[in-house]
Amino acid sequence: MIVAHTRAELAEARRKLTAPVVLVPTMGALHDGHRALLRRARELADGGSVAMSVFVNPLQFGPNEDLGKYPRTLPEDLTIADAEGVDLVFAPGVEDMYPREQLITVDPGPVGGILEGAHRPGHFQGVLTVVLKLFMLVRPDIAVFGQKDAQQLALVRRMTEDFALGIRIEPVPIVRAADGVALSSRNKYLSDTERIVATALSRALSAGAAEASRGPAAVLAACEETLDAAGNALVTDYVELVDFESGLSVRDKDCEGFSGAGAATLAVAARVGATRLIDNAVVRFDAAGD
Ligand code: PAF
Repeated sequence: MIVAHTRAELAEARRKLTAPVVLVPTMGALHDGHRALLRRARELADGGSVAMSVFVNPLQFGPNEDLGKYPRTLPEDLTIADAEGVDLVFAPGVEDMYPREQLITVDPGPVGGILEGAHRPGHFQGVLTVVLKLFMLVRPDIAVFGQKDAQQLALVRRMTEDFALGIRIEPVPIVRAADGVALSSRNKYLSDTERIVATALSRALSAGAAEASRGPAAVLAACEETLDAAGNALVTDYVELVDFESGLSVRDKDCEGFSGAGAATLAVAARVGATRLIDNAVVRFDAAGD
């Protein structure tokens, strides 16, 4: 496994990679969710190569967010990458990714302004800018992203199409711990008591999804009720049923007429103590109203 810390090292290593090159962009602090991304990348690469980037991107953190305390565990990340058969790790410093002030950035469009975009102004502009830059530097044939960040996945897909980047974007399902909590590097911030509170997110999604045959309003109500039952220890930022293709909230509509064959993403964000968590589940409304 080659580890490149600079653009020059990356360019040299990139020349040696066999096609197809599959990229897994990460911010490090790897957990089993990332392992699932790496395994999918290995499958997709077949006889080709797997590249992984590790970069905590300052551009996607707001001024009051956790950039300073975001876990940085490069030695452990490299051990995991090696064990998962990664061929190349690109772990640049901020000065390599942003040698000058990034004056030109990617506008994430209308879907970038809802849900996470509404609560974290500038977040998706930062995400898409770094992803585009990583795509230009690594030049992958395929890139793998987790469903856990469903809005990010939808926006990366759309950017790839709108800019005709010619890169296949491959989604990987959410990986959950035994208690249902979706794996996230930010789970490290949770105390034992907060961890129990955090299980409300996945329970709320299951409660919501179980109401699919009764329609979107019932799904949202069941999800909200479960989050409310967690009490003051959990502060909900949003509960939305959304079609990321159109950016439409499904809240006041029935399922017919939505792109995605009657499926919508039930997305939740909540704060547990100082930790902000997101989770989602795809809800299918095919049987609604029958
Ligand atoms: O999902 C992440 O870890 C980050 O948003 C990404 C895609 C690596 C961009 O910094």
